[in-house]
Amino acid sequence: MTTETALLTTAAAQLSEKISNKTARVGIIGLGYVGLPLAVEFAKAGFSVTGIDLIQPKVDRINAGDSYIQDVNPADVASLVAAGKLRATTDFSVVAELDTINICVPTPLRKTKDPDMSFIVAACQEIAKFVHPGLLAILESTTYPGTTDELVLPMLSSSGMKVGEDFFLCFSPERVDPGNPKFQTRNIPKVVGGVTAACTELGALFYAQALEHVVPVSSTQVAEMVKLLENTFRMINIGLVNELAMMCERMSINIWEVIDAAATKPFGFMPFYPGPGLGGHCIPIDPFYLSWKSKQAGIEARFIELAGYINGQMPHFVVEKVQNALNDRGKAVKGSHVHILGVAYKRDIDDVRESPALDIIHLLQRRGAKVTFSDPHVSSIRIEDGVLTATDAMEEIAQADATVIVTDHAQVDYQPIVERAALIVDTRNALRGYNAANVIRL
Ligand SMILES: NC(=O)c1ccc[n+]([C@@H]2O[C@H](COP(=O)([O-])OP(=O)(O)OC[C@H]3O[C@@H](n4cnc5c(N)ncnc54)[C@H](O)[C@@H]3O)[C@@H](O)[C@H]2O)c1
Repeated sequence: MTTETALLTTAAAQLSEKISNKTARVGIIGLGYVGLPLAVEFAKAGFSVTGIDLIQPKVDRINAGDSYIQDVNPADVASLVAAGKLRATTDFSVVAELDTINICVPTPLRKTKDPDMSFIVAACQEIAKFVHPGLLAILESTTYPGTTDELVLPMLSSSGMKVGEDFFLCFSPERVDPGNPKFQTRNIPKVVGGVTAACTELGALFYAQALEHVVPVSSTQVAEMVKLLENTFRMINIGLVNELAMMCERMSINIWEVIDAAATKPFGFMPFYPGPGLGGHCIPIDPFYLSWKSKQAGIEARFIELAGYINGQMPHFVVEKVQNALNDRGKAVKGSHVHILGVAYKRDIDDVRESPALDIIHLLQRRGAKVTFSDPHVSSIRIEDGVLTATDAMEEIAQADATVIVTDHAQVDYQPIVERAALIVDTRNALRGYNAANVIRL
């Protein structure tokens, strides 16, 4: 079916009209790091937006005009809720009244590194009860190529409605970069691919109402693969520099200086930096969705497995560095006090999901160290034995046998830290330019 023919169906034409004049009722399913900023962006663009989440306290906070996501300004939520443009609910039956829904639920890995599709399946089971003519559904959760066609489409078609004619289905990868002040939901180009050409056209029209730049692609599979290419590219390049960092250590070469000098090449090189290990909901996880799917297609994703292995070694490498540095000073890890400076998985955010700090703390505790932490964005973390609460950074650093910079938050003043710390292992090159004897770099 061509785009023109498909758009002639009554359902498509009516939906197109509602999207263009912003009377379409927008629904966002899953109000987390991805869903809440998206809901706010569409509400700001003038749409009436309903967020659906399973967690009542999140729903209550939004309806009270508050935000629990760092990148979403509570004042924006408050004014949109007051204006009747944004509301939240736990009740999926509202889907019956909505014209569009974006699915932004988690896609974690199982312990076996297989995709955990249970959140997508649970959301689609609920949506399926309320699919109606003229509904545009867009999956945004990162997933393996084929998910939209093979898993979501059969569930949403179960009522007998035809995709591309009665209802419309797309995949659009979310590219949000939490804590990035320059690129946010509104100005990050949005890739979208539909099951049919009409689906793509409606999906692209929808995003164009609220976002600056839309990139339509020919299928849901292409759109799914785009996200996996982007994140696999990062994961493998980080794996490469992490391996180079381990090589440079053996050869007493400063990896940071090497990368800075290589980055002066004006073409054909893009700098990636080593670190204590991968973190967050995306880079450590998404590539394994691709390797799982490619295995089914008979191809081993060897780059992914290798980079996953190397990146997974980094917390051990950091702990070895701490141990060696303490040994050089006549101390053992066992019984030493090690302070972790920064536990978020990256700079200037409060998210500790998959953070390498958690592994480093665990490994140090296993070796008998007394571990404390501080982080301007995180007040407590869950560890194996319970909860660890943040302590005062300067007090702890002055007393600790070693301090490990795991996250280089911009607001930290490093000068007094270098002056007071007995020993600092810097995994982020936060102490670039400091040549003090107590500073050890990755
Ligand atoms: N966080 C990021 O930086 C980022 C970036 C790009 C893509 N993604 C992808 O976006 C997706 C969502 O990630 P996130 O970081 O927003 O996750 P999140 O955990 O912050 O938010 C997900 C929300 O979905 C809700 N939820 C779970 N099951 C539900 C259901 N059946 N019905 C309704 N709500 C449900 C949860 O309560 C939670 O509020 C994932 O696939 C992730 O890989 C995340």
